Amino acid sequence: MTTNRRREVAVIGAGVVGLGVAWRAAQRGMDVLVLERAASGQADGAASPVAAGMLAPVSEADVGERALLDLGLRAAAAWPAFSAELGDDVGYRTCGTLLVARGADEAAALEREQALRASLGLQADRLLPSAARKLEPALAPHVRAALHVADDHAADPRRLHTALKAAALAAGAEIRADADVARLTCDGTRATGIELADGTAIDAEQVVVAAGAWSGEALGLPPAARVPVRPVKGQIMRLRDPDGPGLLDRVLRFEGGYLVPRGDGRYVLGATMEERGFDTTVTAGGIYELLRDAIDLVPGIDELVIEETAAGFRPGVPDNTPILGRSPVIDGLVWATGHHRNGILLASITGELVADVLAGVREGATA
Ligand code: GLY
Repeated sequence: MTTNRRREVAVIGAGVVGLGVAWRAAQRGMDVLVLERAASGQADGAASPVAAGMLAPVSEADVGERALLDLGLRAAAAWPAFSAELGDDVGYRTCGTLLVARGADEAAALEREQALRASLGLQADRLLPSAARKLEPALAPHVRAALHVADDHAADPRRLHTALKAAALAAGAEIRADADVARLTCDGTRATGIELADGTAIDAEQVVVAAGAWSGEALGLPPAARVPVRPVKGQIMRLRDPDGPGLLDRVLRFEGGYLVPRGDGRYVLGATMEERGFDTTVTAGGIYELLRDAIDLVPGIDELVIEETAAGFRPGVPDNTPILGRSPVIDGLVWATGHHRNGILLASITGELVADVLAGVREGATA
């Protein structure tokens, strides 16, 4: 049962980012209310339940994206303690990544990735195709080059979401389900709370927008106060090997996709990158492309059972770097969005960073 008292913090969004912020803020004694768009936390198109859960700071950042890379490396280093604090039930595992190339262009991209890692002092081993197949015997013989990143990790985003929800509640945060936010309420340039679509007013001293791909919506804000977040659609599929684990032990990355083993015979195959607005359809073309490439590289995938197909929206931003910190326009408004392809990785530090902002200890991710 939620009450309508004035809150210190209202968080719009109950994905891994919003729940992580709520958890850390509640741990610091703040009175926090989280507004969840759908009852189950599985809102249509939400990124958290669709994400594959690769924790791959270097292979997700382009050479020029230094700020994202630094944030990702900090987040990867924070993951062991983050996972342990959540009770070690979030599927965090060292599985390593095998990046494979089929043609000359892809092989050149692998060389760039290795050079980037080397410049950061990170280990990545160039493998001959024969050595790659020794590690992963299910690989097809036409792999041309491979890079092995032994210390890469993965986590299970659905288990993470469940654990964060439990942690936020245990720390004292309240979660209101089916809360359809209409707009932020302001007194001049000061945020005063939130109005829901059903007319309910929620008073809050500070409002955190952690609404994923929906964070760019107007929310009643003047244009200068909005953030340039857009949905970047990703189609994925979940596969299961009836024979159990063993087809593939490592995350496999290839041009246009990845295959993430959960370690129990289940795999996530992803993901398309599409600029189609809020379109949640799963298309024949999207699924065909994913399966075509995956089966080309690992023919045994042919035998797996398709358990689920889904589409989710990454919160895309122009420089691919999350927007974390105070609004320069509206007092009391704090952004926690724009995590694009890195929401699960960055979950390990986003909650703390934003709780620091709410506590007045810092302004943003770096300051
Ligand atoms: N992090 C992988 C993806 O967004 O597809």
